[in-house]
Amino acid sequence: MTILQNLLKRKTPDDAVNSAKEGGLEKTLGVWDLIILGVGAIIGSGIFAVVGIAAAGSADGASPGAGPALVLSMIIAAIACVFSALCFSEFAAMIPVSGGAYSYTYATLGECAAWLVGWILMLEYVIAFIAVSCAWANYVVQFLKGFGHILPAWLVNPPIWLVSDFRSAVHSLTSQGVDYHSVIPYFCGIPFSINLPAILIILFITLTLIKGTKDSTKFATFMVVLKLGIIGLFILSGLFFVEPANWTPFAPNGFSGVFMGAFIIFFAYIGFDALATTAEECKNPQRDLPRGIIGSLIVTTIVYTLVALVLTGMYKTQGKVDAAFLGAPLAFTMSNALHGWAAKAVPGFMSVGIIAGLTSVLLVMQMAATRILYVMSRDHFLPEVFQKLHPKFNTPHVLTWVVCIVSVFGTLTLNLDAAAALCNFGTFTSFIIVCAAVIILRKIDPDRHRPFKVPFCPWFPLAGILCCGGLMAFMMITAKGESARLSTELFFAWIIMGALIYATYGYHKNRKAEQEKIEK
Ligand code: ALA
Repeated sequence: MTILQNLLKRKTPDDAVNSAKEGGLEKTLGVWDLIILGVGAIIGSGIFAVVGIAAAGSADGASPGAGPALVLSMIIAAIACVFSALCFSEFAAMIPVSGGAYSYTYATLGECAAWLVGWILMLEYVIAFIAVSCAWANYVVQFLKGFGHILPAWLVNPPIWLVSDFRSAVHSLTSQGVDYHSVIPYFCGIPFSINLPAILIILFITLTLIKGTKDSTKFATFMVVLKLGIIGLFILSGLFFVEPANWTPFAPNGFSGVFMGAFIIFFAYIGFDALATTAEECKNPQRDLPRGIIGSLIVTTIVYTLVALVLTGMYKTQGKVDAAFLGAPLAFTMSNALHGWAAKAVPGFMSVGIIAGLTSVLLVMQMAATRILYVMSRDHFLPEVFQKLHPKFNTPHVLTWVVCIVSVFGTLTLNLDAAAALCNFGTFTSFIIVCAAVIILRKIDPDRHRPFKVPFCPWFPLAGILCCGGLMAFMMITAKGESARLSTELFFAWIIMGALIYATYGYHKNRKAEQEKIEK
C-alpha cells in the first residue's frame, strides 16, 4: 500500500461508532444538560472583555471598532456559526463519538487530515482554557480590591509576581517606571513570577472534571444561571440609560470596522462545537446533540445582540474611549451610568457573575480538550496511557492531568491578545473543514442514515466555508498590530509542528497498529 493511500485512509462512521462502544464513558447527559454546557462554554470572556475592543477598536489603533454597528458584527459572526453549527449537528447525530470535528474528518478526508484537525482543536481548546483562566485571575484580583476595608492587605494587594506571568509583570512595572529587578524575586538567577489565581482555578477545574461529568454539569448549571442573571440585569437596567444619540453615526469605520468587529467577536461564540465532543456521554445523542448545539447558539445570539444594543446605547463607542471600557466594558458602562454607592456596588456584584461565567467556560474547554486527546489516543495517534479511566469516577484522569500541567505552563508565558486571535484561527479552520466534510460525505456515502440533515446542502455548508474563510482572510490581510502578526505566525508554526509530529510518530504508530491487527 502506498504512503498516499495510508494518508487518505478513512475510518468509516461505523468503525468510529464501534470503537466508541469499546470506551467506557458514562452516558448521563440529556438535552438540557447539553444546552447548559453549551451556554456555559460559549458565554465568557468574549462578551465580558473582548466586546469592548470589537466596539471601540484596539487601544493601539491596529483594528478599527464597529461602533454601534457592533450588533451587525454580532449577527455576521452568528451567521458564520449557524452554518457550521448545522454541519456539526449533521455529523454529531450521524457519528456520535467523542472526537467532534476530528472524528468527522477521519470519516471523510482520511488519517492525515484527521490528525491535523485534532491538532488544531487541541490548540483551540487548550489556548482558550489558558486565556480564560488568565482573564478569570484578573477579574478575581480586581474583585478582591473592592473589599479593601474587610480583607487583609496581602489578599487585596498581592505582590505582582504572584498574580502575573513574568513578561506581563515586567511590562506592567516598566510602564510605571519601576525597575522590575527590585520587585521580582530571583532564585538561582531565575526570576519567579507566576499567576497563582490562574493556576489555582486550573487545579480546581481539573479536580472537578476528574470527579465526573454529571457533577460537572450540576456545577455548570449553577454558574450558567448566575451569569445569565447578571447579563439579564445589565440588559434590563441598562435600557433605562440608553441614549439614542449614542447610536449615531451607526458605523463610524464602515464595513472594515464591522468585519473586524465580527472577526474579533467570533471568539465570544466559540464553544458550541465543544458540545459535539461529549457525544459518548449523551443518553440520546442522535436526537439531543443537534438540539443542544443549535439551542445554545440561539440563546447566546439573542443575549449578545441585546447586550450589543444596550452597551453601545449607554456609552459612546465612536472616537476615543476610556481604557477601563476596553478592559471590562459591561462593568465600566454600568458604573459610568450610575452615581453614589450604586456606581461601586452594582459593578462589584456584576463581577461575581462574570467570574462565574468564566468558570463555566473553563470547565467545558478543559473537558473538550481531554475528550479530543482521548479519541486521538484511541486511534493510535498518541500513547495508549492517555486512555486510562479513573477506577472510581470513570473519567480520563491521566489526560485531564496532562491538560492541567500544559495549561499551568501556558499561564507562565501566554500573550492574551494573541491567544484570542490564535483561538479564532484554529476554530475557523476546523469549521471550514467540517462544512467541507459534510459535502464530501454526502457525495461518497449518500445512503447513510442521517438522523439530522443540513438543509439546502451543499449551499448552506458552502456559505459556512465562505463566511469563516472570508473573516479569516480579512483579518490576515487587514490587521496591522503586533498581536495579529504573532497569532498568524504562531498558527502556521503550530500546523507545521503538527505535520512533523504526524510524520515522525503518528503515521508509524498507526502502521504498527494495523500490522498487529493483521497478525491477530
Ligand atoms: N466563547 C468563549 C468566551 O467568550 C471562548 O470566553
